[in-house]
Amino acid sequence: MAEILGIGCTHRPLMLRRNEDWTGMMKASLDDPAMPEEMKNPANWPAPLRAELGNDWGTASAARAREVYRRHFVEARAALDAFKPDLIVMWGDDQYENFKEDIVPPFAVLAYDDQDIQPWAHRRSPQNPWNEPADKVFRVRGHREAGKYLAAHLIEAGIDVGYAYKPLHHQMGHAFENTVLLLDDERRGFDYPLVQFSVNCYGRRVNAAHGLRLPLAMKDDIRNLDPPSPNPHRCMQVGAATARIMAASPWRVALMASSSWSHSFLTEKNWQLWPDVEADRRLYGALEAGDYAQWHNYTTDQIEDCGQHEVLNWFCLLGAMEALGRKPDKAEFIETWAFVSPVVFAHYHA
Ligand SMILES: [Fe+2]
Repeated sequence: MAEILGIGCTHRPLMLRRNEDWTGMMKASLDDPAMPEEMKNPANWPAPLRAELGNDWGTASAARAREVYRRHFVEARAALDAFKPDLIVMWGDDQYENFKEDIVPPFAVLAYDDQDIQPWAHRRSPQNPWNEPADKVFRVRGHREAGKYLAAHLIEAGIDVGYAYKPLHHQMGHAFENTVLLLDDERRGFDYPLVQFSVNCYGRRVNAAHGLRLPLAMKDDIRNLDPPSPNPHRCMQVGAATARIMAASPWRVALMASSSWSHSFLTEKNWQLWPDVEADRRLYGALEAGDYAQWHNYTTDQIEDCGQHEVLNWFCLLGAMEALGRKPDKAEFIETWAFVSPVVFAHYHA
């Protein structure tokens, strides 16, 4: 039996932007023509949101938060380095990047070979916190053999997962690319082969909203948009099967979930201005306690109502950890109201 390490983290796109841009998504929602006048008035926003925004649209809070996230990424990297995995299997969302109108698989194992990626070349602005040139190339190692092994055994176990040997539309989705960049904050190099495991987290809005913010005028029409995401319980089954398969493999494997929790721009009931912090806290309480029944009972309606679409990546991880009989050795909930989404880091030691 191979050893398995479990880690949950975030791919926090804000970390790749300037502090003064961390409230850009909130400003975009405020500029939506369908935003009611009363919701533009900060007096109607939750007190912790106003406190975090301060009088500089959150710039000072962002600077402090950045250091907190950096510390957690250092810790996650140290856990990986101590474990020395042969490969990482990472669950991440595809936000209308590699998968769009021509195919949206509920789950897909990206059994790629090594990739040379240029993260700054395809973004709106090449500006980045490391001051790297726009054409900077990173080699991300793949593990086609392990990807094929995983896809084959999932299918044999009754999980009809898709697989691919090369990207369709996009080199590497942000959920994977950001995480690799952030786990190598010190730019020592990141040499662990990666098997990207794509989860259709954006479901009913992936094509309709291009994986981003749905115009508020469409907010009551969500059920008529695209077909939904796989349900949370199914994600846990996929995670559990993955854990069993990789535990029986010849490799030491780190299983990782890469995403933040409820997102403000996915939480229509809050007019896309702040995330559902309370719902995240409840779900996090169950994670901390190892109360997997609460996770199994979660529904797609709850996910969509609370803007927790991306947490489906974590449902895969928790299914895996439940299958291995694990509870978190360390976990932390990092609350934020102004910066899109609360963040959780969790470690399940081997
Ligand atoms: Fe994402």
